[in-house]
Amino acid sequence: MSNFMNLLGAKGRAASSPRLAGAAYELTFSYGYPAVENLPSEAIAQAASKVLRERGELPLQYGGASGAPQFVETLLNKLKRDQGINAKRENVLVTNGSMQVLGLLGEMFLDPGDTVIIEAPTFLGAVRVLINGGANIVGVGLDDEGINAVELRTRLEALRSSGRTPKYIYIIPNFQNPAGICMSLPRRMEVIALAREFGTLIVEDDAYFDLRFEGKKLPTMYELSGGRDVVYAGTFSKTLAPAMRLGWAVGEPELISRMSTIKVDGTGAFSTNIADEFCKDEGLEKNIAKLRANYAQRAEVMLDALTEYMPPGVSWSKPSGGFFVWLTFPASVDTEELVELTRKQGVDFLPGTRCFADGSGRQNARMAFSYVPMDRIPEGIRVIAECTRQLLR
Ligand SMILES: Cc1ncc(COP(=O)(O)O)c(C=O)c1O
Repeated sequence: MSNFMNLLGAKGRAASSPRLAGAAYELTFSYGYPAVENLPSEAIAQAASKVLRERGELPLQYGGASGAPQFVETLLNKLKRDQGINAKRENVLVTNGSMQVLGLLGEMFLDPGDTVIIEAPTFLGAVRVLINGGANIVGVGLDDEGINAVELRTRLEALRSSGRTPKYIYIIPNFQNPAGICMSLPRRMEVIALAREFGTLIVEDDAYFDLRFEGKKLPTMYELSGGRDVVYAGTFSKTLAPAMRLGWAVGEPELISRMSTIKVDGTGAFSTNIADEFCKDEGLEKNIAKLRANYAQRAEVMLDALTEYMPPGVSWSKPSGGFFVWLTFPASVDTEELVELTRKQGVDFLPGTRCFADGSGRQNARMAFSYVPMDRIPEGIRVIAECTRQLLR
């Protein structure tokens, strides 16, 4: 065995990271990627050129922990205006994508064997952090209003009686990835109260907050909790461009300060300067308004195609924002098998098993309406529906 395997020790047991093969297929519903037409390349080019001409060489130097200081101000204003979050500089850390926030939280809080509660299903990128940290992962199911509060209480009580306090509860309240559910206001309050009662934290991952295309926005759990015992994670990946690698954490000053100590790299000075420039003259608001209209239309195209082509017995969520539709198939359809069939015809989607930490979800699938060219969504859905019929026969 090579030295590196010996030196890894317990960390060598971390899960391997299966990469999805979606890019190999002509129509891929598997990724939560923004649509090509929603990447504002011209505006980013203009912002970048302005930054280089007007801001001297600093944007090309190493950045501080949070990147360009002006960007932090811009972000604080955005959070106040849109999210209703009243944060100060000491409450915020700008990161290289919100995935980095999740990674840093894992590094800060987790020792092998520690418990973390997740929604089941959830975003498997977040679960990978927990697996790598050796966490004891406890999944709690969802209902129409979000994480099931009755089940959550039962789990918390069982953990308490075995002397355990979960390190945190990981929640995606808006347009949940993958289930598309938007957590109701009463449920948000109930979950905050439960976290308090059982002495744990909430990690609120709000990647899709800005992409609501129906209904009224709800207060964040961070705001509802008065900024206590909730760490809020956000990102520009869905509203600007994922390649900018810009995310942020909002939390209590002590926590943010600990997190910046652990975060040994700076945050991109160039990308934070560009984002700052992009946000000027309501650039971000205008872009978000355009995205909302586009994703609303994409969701409608997908829902119409599902209604037209899917055989009876298949049901799906009706998202009011975000990127995803979550499907439930009859018991005789295994979506791992289904995806093998659709891939032969160039169409890929995410089988439900990739969204549960325990391998369940064989009758589920996540379809992103965000990425496939809009006019080709129906033909992709038609292929998936035809393959479903084959399995039902
Ligand atoms: C719920 C959720 N959180 C976080 C991320 C990662 O975002 P970022 O690109 O900011 O790391 C994603 C991206 O798919 C996501 O769906």
